[in-house]
Amino acid sequence: MKFFVDTANLDQIRDAQNLGVLDGVTTNPSLMAKEGITGRENILKHYVAICNIVDGDVSAEVIATDFDGMVKEGEELASLHEQIIVKLPMIKAGVKAAKYFSDKGIKTNVTLVFSAGQALLAAKAGATYVSPFIGRLDDISTDGLNLIAEIRLIYDNYGFETQILAASVRHTMHVIDCAKLGADVITGPLSSIEGLLNHPLTDIGLAKFLADYNKGN
Ligand code: E4P
Repeated sequence: MKFFVDTANLDQIRDAQNLGVLDGVTTNPSLMAKEGITGRENILKHYVAICNIVDGDVSAEVIATDFDGMVKEGEELASLHEQIIVKLPMIKAGVKAAKYFSDKGIKTNVTLVFSAGQALLAAKAGATYVSPFIGRLDDISTDGLNLIAEIRLIYDNYGFETQILAASVRHTMHVIDCAKLGADVITGPLSSIEGLLNHPLTDIGLAKFLADYNKGN
């Protein structure tokens, strides 16, 4: 199972990388804006900066919503760095573009996926990753994890190689449940990964071990 962080914050990306368990990064236009990264040139430079910190895949999202625009932008993004994954929205032009890039051997991440049918289309188009947004489904009282289970079943039924990238992960239980359901990747805030560390019995046990060691020294 791969762990991606969902942020454009370079300090957090460095922290995640230094933990030694990071496999990649996802970004989106909102995350870029949150870091104050605006303007095409700055955004492209920022993607390269992220690639220079991490070893794995870095999703970079196109802004165009028409096929020709997506192809032009996606090719520019892919040429920035070998780690870049072209992130395409789940709309008709996005599916067409996923097929276009897949045929050219360029990796893609089809994003804003909220149904099993959309995930099936992304796989048929040859997407490298599909991003079902589980947190946003939970936000509207719909079971986001159930979508992961449905996509896993469908992909396994037909041997689709598209990797299920559980996105909009909000907390540690999302990570654990996605692992149980067989998601290939999760992407979430660093806290959802670092939170996996925590257990009070670990802290109590360590304090006791150290206290006992110190008795004899
Ligand atoms: C995925 O690639 C998206 O960037 C992301 O996971 C969305 O998460 P959010 O619902 O917390 O904004």
